Formats: sequence, structure tokens, C-alpha cells
Amino acid sequence: MKLRILLVSLLSTLGYAFPSSTAVDKASRSPGKSVDLGIPQLFSEDTTAKVWRVALNLLNDLPDKYPEKVPDTGANAGHYALEDVSYWTSGFFPGSVYDLLERAVRFPSHFPANNIDRQEIHDQLLDLAGKWADPLHKQALRTDTHDLGFVIMPALRKDWELNGNQKSLDTIVTAAHSLATRFDPRVNAIRSWDSFENKIMNITDKETNFLIIVDSMCNMDLLFYAGHQTSNQTLIDIATTHSHTVLRDIVRENYSTFHCCNINPQTNELKWKGTAQGYKDWSTWARGQAWAILGFTQTYSWTKDPVFLDAAKGVSDYYIKRLNEAKHSHPYFPLWDFDAPTVDGQLPPRDTSSATAAATGLLKLHQILKGDSPYLKAAVKIISQTIDLSYPGDPASLSMSDGKITVTPPEAKWDALFMNATENNNEFAMTMSNNTGIVYADYYFLEFGNALLEMGFV
Ligand SMILES: *[C@@H]1O[C@H](CO)[C@@H](O)[C@H](O)[C@H]1NC(C)=O
Ligand SMILES: *[C@@H]1O[C@H](CO)[C@@H](O)[C@H](O)[C@H]1NC(C)=O
Ligand SMILES: *[C@@H]1O[C@H](CO)[C@@H](O)[C@H](O)[C@H]1NC(C)=O
Ligand SMILES: *[C@@H]1O[C@H](CO)[C@@H](O)[C@H](O)[C@H]1NC(C)=O
Ligand SMILES: *[C@@H]1O[C@H](CO)[C@@H](O)[C@H](O)[C@H]1NC(C)=O
Repeated sequence: MKLRILLVSLLSTLGYAFPSSTAVDKASRSPGKSVDLGIPQLFSEDTTAKVWRVALNLLNDLPDKYPEKVPDTGANAGHYALEDVSYWTSGFFPGSVYDLLERAVRFPSHFPANNIDRQEIHDQLLDLAGKWADPLHKQALRTDTHDLGFVIMPALRKDWELNGNQKSLDTIVTAAHSLATRFDPRVNAIRSWDSFENKIMNITDKETNFLIIVDSMCNMDLLFYAGHQTSNQTLIDIATTHSHTVLRDIVRENYSTFHCCNINPQTNELKWKGTAQGYKDWSTWARGQAWAILGFTQTYSWTKDPVFLDAAKGVSDYYIKRLNEAKHSHPYFPLWDFDAPTVDGQLPPRDTSSATAAATGLLKLHQILKGDSPYLKAAVKIISQTIDLSYPGDPASLSMSDGKITVTPPEAKWDALFMNATENNNEFAMTMSNNTGIVYADYYFLEFGNALLEMGFV
């Protein structure tokens, strides 16, 4: 007992975050009872105000441009670089604003009001959320991307569920039919990328190539949701079939994952399994593994097919095993690729987006397993250790002036909630990118908080 206390205080001095494991155990056993997980940042005023500030400050860039990445060097260091609304990440920032709205509406005890009138918070947040969501509707007709789930679902699903906005449900259904056009019955899958180009590969011919990536698992939710909302079994079948194909061709026997595979659609012959954004073809890219955790968990929750529950548990256990085996400080804050080497004593970059997406997936899996699982504890540990190294202390607060809610200070030192995301550190990538803020790391952190609220853990 004494030894444990000594160890904990020693490690705390070294910067380890130790959520009280008794608290997590207790939460695990009795969902519905609120416990202190030791992560004040989840629902803090700083967190809320930082997202609100970006939502206000970048309004003028709508309808074409969306916040994506926060560089740590260069003239614009600390501030969001923008991407076109057509880019696969455009849905995440609107999704983050809707996460705040969901807190304000459903979980007001976890929305810091700071003496501001609650009705004003709701009305102004609703207005902001709508402005951020509006340009996304037009994306729903696109058939040249498989990422419509990421683009459409974060904001528009919440707009339908919280506000009953029929237009948002209609857009979800339209987007699902657009995504379904990419299904090829010869391959039993949805085409992920139309082409792929890096410094050593250039795949462009769709007649002889069919690229599938593990990320695609997260887009299946769009098909399941629209399929069930409209009783269209075809959409459900397409998503189920695609999930089986990913499980067969991208998940390895030990439940680690490839990033991509390429199939000849004429012969259904597998031509290549490997990576685009990870370290090596044989390695395990940490964000890909997180997409697998989230994706198979979602597919199981829709289909209840035990094959997908085994997959969700398998990819989760693999992720946690690699964290447990890590020799570096804060072992639960994943490296960008579990197999990336330490060079000249320098650890490889980490990836906050893998951390927050994996933690959200693990939490949902814990919920499916009705509290009888190790995944809540692992998820909380991932978030705590990631915050410990990569959540910049950058205070922000909300206040009301002339009837308008504003944020102080009006500019951030670092626009995103997190640092240290690695978008793509592959040696052959056209553009390498590590140690940035990234919009989906923040989005999944907010989702993690909302999932805890939904499950009654906090
Ligand atoms: C169901 O979805 C499929 C795929 O988009 C579509 O071809 C079909 O027409 C839809 N069925 C109905 C009854 O709407
Ligand atoms: C890849 O192939 C396409 C189509 O053949 C071509 O337009 C493009 O220039 C190629 N890229 C490289 C880097 O060779
Ligand atoms: C998992 O399987 C892959 C592919 O067979 C292999 O490269 C990797 O070393 C295995 N990982 C572990 C931790 O056993
Ligand atoms: C996070 O990013 C900052 C800025 O690039 C860097 O100085 C720091 O070493 C990174 N931390 C980790 C844990 O990689
Ligand atoms: C991080 O990315 C830069 C390019 O932005 C690259 O030059 C560098 O090698 C990467 N760092 C590591 C440790 O892989």
C-alpha cells in the first residue's frame, strides 16, 4: 500500500496523470453513478470557450473554408490553416460545435455558464451551429468520395436528433445513397479512394484497381443510420458486406490492421496490402487502428453479428496491448505508428487524434458490453496521459457583451484543443505532417465527453 502511494507520487512528479483507478472501477460497475474521473479539461470553461472562439473567428471564411490543422512552425503557427469544404475533414468542426450544443441542451450541469443567461447560450450556439452546418448539405450529392460519413454525420445527425431538423435527415439519406453508388458487388466493397499517389506509387486506373482503406469503417454509420431511418435494407446490406470485406482483407490475424488494400475488381484478386499514411506496409498505423475500433464497434451495434463484436474486441485489445508494451513515458499516449522506431534517442511523434478516436471507440464498446470490460479504464487512461503532454494551458472564458457572447482573450495562442497530432508521417508521402493540432483530435475528445455524459459516468 505504502509502496503504491510512493510510486504514484513519484510518477505524478514525473508528469504521469493518474485518474483514481478506484473511481474508474466504481464507474465501470455502476453506470448512472457520477464519479470524478480526474479529467477536469473535459468540460472546462477553457475547452468550451476555445471551440466557441474558433466558431466565431472563422465565420467569415464560410461557406468555402473549414478549420483543419494548426501548424507548430511558420508565420501562422498556432492558428488554424483552412481546407476547402470538399475536403474530408470539413464535417468535424461543425460536429464540435454541435457537441457543445448537445451539452447545453441535454447536460447543462456540464456546460459552464459563467452567469450568462442559459437561453442566450442556447440560442447563440444554435445559430452558430447552423451556420457551420449549412454549407455541408451541398456535399451530399457527391459520388467522388467515400468520406461522406465523416463530412455529414457529426453535425447533421445531431441537428436532426437535437433540433428535429428534417432537412438534415434528408441530407443524411441523400449522402447515404451517394456513398452507396461506390459499392461494387464484384469486390463486395465500397471504393475508398479513386486514386493514390505517393513518391513510389501512382494508382489511377479504376478498371484494374479498387482501393479500400481502414478509415472507411467509420463511414458505415451513415449507411446504417440512413438505412434504418428509411427502412432501406440495401443500404444496410452494403454497409454490412463492406465491413466483412474490411475484416477479411485489412484486419490481420492478430487483429492489428493494414491501412489499405488494393483489389483487381475484374478478378477480385488481392494485389496489395500496405500503408499510405503509416510507417511501413507491415506496421500498425495508430490512427488506422483507432478507426478500426470505432468502426467495428459501430458495425456491431447496428448488426449485432458476433463476428463484428469479436473484431471490435480484437482490434481494441491489440491497441491496448501495444500501449501496455510501450517503454516510453506516458505509454498510453500512442505513437503515430506502433512500430515507428526511436532514432538517435528521439521518440517518434505521437498522434493525439489516434488517442481521442480510440478512446471514444473503447468507451462505446464498454457501453455495448454493459460495463463488463476493461475498456473504460483504458480509455480514461489514454485521455489522461494525452492531456498531460499535449493539452496546452491556454485559458479562455465566455462572457456577454452587448447581448453577444464573446470569448476572452479574443485570439488564442493555440487554436486547437490539442497539439501533437500526426496526419501523415510516411516517408513516401507527398506531404509529411506531424506535431500539429488537428480538428478531428478535438472532435473525438468532445465526443468522448458527450459519450461519458450519455452513459451517466460523469
Ligand atoms: C434503397 O437504396 C438503394 C441504394 O441506394 C437504392 O438503389 C434503392 O432504390 C433504395 N430503395 C428504395 C425502396 O428506396
Ligand atoms: C500519376 O498518373 C497520372 C495519370 O496517369 C498522371 O497524370 C500523373 O502525373 C502521375 N503522377 C506522377 C507523380 O507520376
Ligand atoms: C501482428 O501481425 C503482424 C502481421 O503478421 C506482424 O507484423 C506483427 O509483428 C504482429 N504483431 C504482434 C505484436 O505480434
Ligand atoms: C508536441 O509538439 C510540440 C511542438 O511541436 C513539441 O515541442 C513537443 O515535443 C511535442 N510533444 C510530444 C510528446 O511529442
Ligand atoms: C516530421 O515531419 C517533418 C516534415 O514536416 C519531417 O521532416 C520530419 O522528419 C518528421 N519528424 C519525424 C521525427 O519523423
